[in-house]
Amino acid sequence: METLDNKLALVTGSSGVLGAAIVRSLIGRGCRVLMADIVSEPLDALAGELGDKAIPLMLDVSDDLAVAKTAKEIRDAWGDVDILVNNAGILSNNKAVETSPEEWRRLMSINLDGAFFLSREWLAGMKAKGWGRIVNICSLAAKTGGLTAGTAYTTSKGGMTALTFSLAREAAGFGVTANGVSPAYIKTPMVTEQLSEEQRQKLLNDIPVGRFCDGEEVAHVVDFLVSPLSGFITGEIIDINGGLHLD
Ligand SMILES: NC(=O)c1ccc[n+]([C@@H]2O[C@H](COP(=O)([O-])OP(=O)(O)OC[C@H]3O[C@@H](n4cnc5c(N)ncnc54)[C@H](O)[C@@H]3O)[C@@H](O)[C@H]2O)c1
Repeated sequence: METLDNKLALVTGSSGVLGAAIVRSLIGRGCRVLMADIVSEPLDALAGELGDKAIPLMLDVSDDLAVAKTAKEIRDAWGDVDILVNNAGILSNNKAVETSPEEWRRLMSINLDGAFFLSREWLAGMKAKGWGRIVNICSLAAKTGGLTAGTAYTTSKGGMTALTFSLAREAAGFGVTANGVSPAYIKTPMVTEQLSEEQRQKLLNDIPVGRFCDGEEVAHVVDFLVSPLSGFITGEIIDINGGLHLD
């Protein structure tokens, strides 16, 4: 069976809980992984732990010029990216009336523009090679209107879902798939620090599986989607929410 050995992956938001879990998992499958983030210390620690297949990369995904410049540097040093995981994101729980135009633009630029800039940059090379995988980390918020998440976050993730569909349609004939993973309530600072204790207790009562999600469980879905055997799955958004939303 075709493996992922020596495929080049780029994971944005690699300093975060979920990003680090995805990096570990892809390296375990044989990939070299470019770990992009705006926070450097966790990247250096991960590189120290995982060895020379884990390559730290400082990159603000919302900056289109930085994305283009970094892409050129990556091409010169390592070649084209085969697997792109758009994971970088920030949360705001502010609903519409509390959301300023500045906050709206910040959420959109990091959560949605970033995924577009990166996808745009790497898709041509994937199409030319006849193989590629794009995975976008979406959110249950896009379907529910945001149970606790705010309006800008929810809308950015809705955009990410539509971006996934559009990329999937554009790339399908070239051996390139674009899919999304739609988690809810992973054990990360978004849940442990940005929700009140009362909100957490209510969610634990409402989630049928009875607990929050582990980052490794989401990384496992990413693994499945980037597998060579998943080439017939494209434009799919896989829910991972412990039964909180059934459809
Ligand atoms: N935690 C959850 O319950 C949950 C649920 C649904 C979806 N998600 C999504 O999962 C993804 C990962 O989030 P997480 O929970 O691991 O949070 P996290 O805060 O641990 O990680 C997010 C990472 O993105 C990085 N980042 C922020 N702005 C950036 C920028 N401009 N350029 C590059 N990197 C940037 C941060 O530095 C951080 O390391 C996000 O897209 C988030 O929306 C999380």
